Amino acid sequence: MALPIASRTPAPPDPVLGLTEAFRADTRPGRVNLSAGVYVDDTGITPVLPSVLAAEGRILAAQTTKVYRPIDGDAAYRTAVRDLVFGTDHEIVTSGRSATSHTPGGTGALRVAADFLAQEGSPRTVWVSDPTWPNHPAIFGAAGFRIRPYPYVRPGERHVAIDAMLEALGEAEAGDLLLLHGSCHNPTGVDPSPAEWERIGGLVERRELLPLVDFAYQGFGDGLREDASWQRAIARPGREFLLASSFSKNFALYNERVGALTVVATDRAAADSAQSHVKVTIRANYSNPPSHGAEIVTTILGDPALRAQWEVELAGMRGRIHANRRLLVAALEARRIPGDWAPIAGERGMFALLNLSKDQVRRLREEHAVYVVGAGRINVAGITATNLDPFADAVAAVVEG
Ligand code: LMR
Repeated sequence: MALPIASRTPAPPDPVLGLTEAFRADTRPGRVNLSAGVYVDDTGITPVLPSVLAAEGRILAAQTTKVYRPIDGDAAYRTAVRDLVFGTDHEIVTSGRSATSHTPGGTGALRVAADFLAQEGSPRTVWVSDPTWPNHPAIFGAAGFRIRPYPYVRPGERHVAIDAMLEALGEAEAGDLLLLHGSCHNPTGVDPSPAEWERIGGLVERRELLPLVDFAYQGFGDGLREDASWQRAIARPGREFLLASSFSKNFALYNERVGALTVVATDRAAADSAQSHVKVTIRANYSNPPSHGAEIVTTILGDPALRAQWEVELAGMRGRIHANRRLLVAALEARRIPGDWAPIAGERGMFALLNLSKDQVRRLREEHAVYVVGAGRINVAGITATNLDPFADAVAAVVEG
């Protein structure tokens, strides 16, 4: 009788990955999974990138040991990630006021950030966009944070509700954590414009908030540098913030669990000190990171030819997602499904939100074997020539029927 009493009642399935589990158990022919954010090519496969295969060949040929890596990861990886995010000439890099840790995926980075910030004892508040990735409140709730939503994209709309967002954040207190999606907002695909980022940056300064930028999709929107445009508003001289990177998507290294947490402090000494506490957090959590994915990223970013190859492969994935957006809009419009679909073509990243009701989402799954997340978030990167028409037919049936 030592297990928690609550554990006698099964927990609900995960709102994202639980759908893939259900999909795998579904045997109906023609079933369609557009739930988890996983890129597939037009044959429905999630390929290993050729640049990754080439890097792995080199790593395996040179490997002599499986000894532990440093608590915060190898220095070469940490430097490579920092330079990928900021560029080598950014003030944050030249001043040395950042410290990057290798974490198991972007989720690991978020949880390390949460545990690091929770060290002070008194619970902090984290402000999360409404809507957001369901794991955001789960991660910060597990670390003891109070979760407060700020309006981001209102149901049925396809633009940032910037005035409402800033008004809600006007209630935030100094030191509150503000969770922002750096690019390719999950689940809406709607990012702030440069002018909106400016207003967000101004509010961060006025209210003395601590931004945490979730940067899981660098390169999936408009390009590696273009997707970092949030930095003009957030990475201002002397300002502190945290950054969670993921290489699940842009390197297609989903199951290698490779990501990074970067803490940006006011100066080098503060960054070094913060890093010592991040290492304590990591040590008490998973001790030190798994090495293989980070070795792949380091090898590719450190070799000009491999890096150029990877950037071409990344551009290929990005281009296919943009093309899928246009195909999706055409398929929904061809069926005259009521709704404002055209803006989806101009949105960014893996996801589009169809704004379906719970009942419509349930009917998609139960009557049409079509799996989508929440209020109709679909993984645009999962659309193929085979599943597009059955998907659009199913949406037409549940919206009109
Ligand atoms: C998603 O939102 O589908 C991805 O980030 C995968 C995940 O871990 O939820």
